[in-house]
Amino acid sequence: PEISSKPPLTIRLCQPRGFCAGVDRAIQIVVLALKKYGAPVYVRHEIVHNRYVVEGLQNLGAVFIEELNEIPAEHRECPVVFSAHGVPKSVPEDAQARNLFYLDATCPLVSKVHKQAMRHQRLGRHVLLIGHGGHPEVIGTMGQLPEGSVTLIETEADVAAFVPSDPEALGFVTQTTLSVEDTAGLIRALQDRFPAMMAPSAESICYATTNRQEAVKETASGADLFLVVGAPNSSNSKRLVEVAERAGAKMSLLVQRASEIPWDDIAGISTLGLSAGASAPEIIVDEIIDAFRARFDVKVDLAITATETENFPVMSVLRDMKLTPS
Ligand code: F3S
Repeated sequence: PEISSKPPLTIRLCQPRGFCAGVDRAIQIVVLALKKYGAPVYVRHEIVHNRYVVEGLQNLGAVFIEELNEIPAEHRECPVVFSAHGVPKSVPEDAQARNLFYLDATCPLVSKVHKQAMRHQRLGRHVLLIGHGGHPEVIGTMGQLPEGSVTLIETEADVAAFVPSDPEALGFVTQTTLSVEDTAGLIRALQDRFPAMMAPSAESICYATTNRQEAVKETASGADLFLVVGAPNSSNSKRLVEVAERAGAKMSLLVQRASEIPWDDIAGISTLGLSAGASAPEIIVDEIIDAFRARFDVKVDLAITATETENFPVMSVLRDMKLTPS
């Protein structure tokens, strides 16, 4: 028998990894809207934070914009889709004022956080939002409430600096894609200072974030390298890189495509951990495994830590459209 001259490599492939139900739904909404209404379909902001997905949809006729005023007057009849990250209330209001036809692809789990924030406010509480400033989800959640009624908490220093007008009337929510561990630390720090602070009635960090972090934590220890497939602006993907590092991977990197792998730096590795953020398509995971197969004698070990059955249906106006299998 032929003896491989390639060095051996064990790939510990995390499961669950990659697309979550919210990302899957958002992409389906754009594809189905294109099918039902024809091109162009406008999409406000990257529908999900992945260039590969965005380019694929552009090729089908989606046009990505940052603000609604970029839609030309003659295209006012075309649908505009809001991204999975959610939008401030002012966006659908603006769409209505402009007489636009919009489809909201906000993940239902982000909408749930919006509702929790509004509930705190209805009950007279000032809202603390734990999250990363500038992320579209944070902009969307803050934009559910009038200005001044939400304070963003990013760090322990923010916890220490926050001075509430009434420490007895506080409630918190978080971004859905945060580090489970860091967030628990920030919540503890807030509770120490403000024991009366109310939690949301359901956990804000979503199942997909939690499961992907858990899978990485289980598999990263001792790995010579841990690769996370994802975009540099993808919050949940960046958190996976941190989790891998903390769990004991010797090196941990975020890559968008196989072409970004620094082959010279990793020539001596014998174990690789591999996962993908919630917005990263499986086809890129395959591309990466193939790239390793070309250089190593690869054995793939599937590390299953959870089974996901979540599935979020698209809005009723698109439900009669069937996706053609690709
Ligand atoms: Fe939704 Fe969580 Fe995905 S909030 S879009 S299920 S990462």
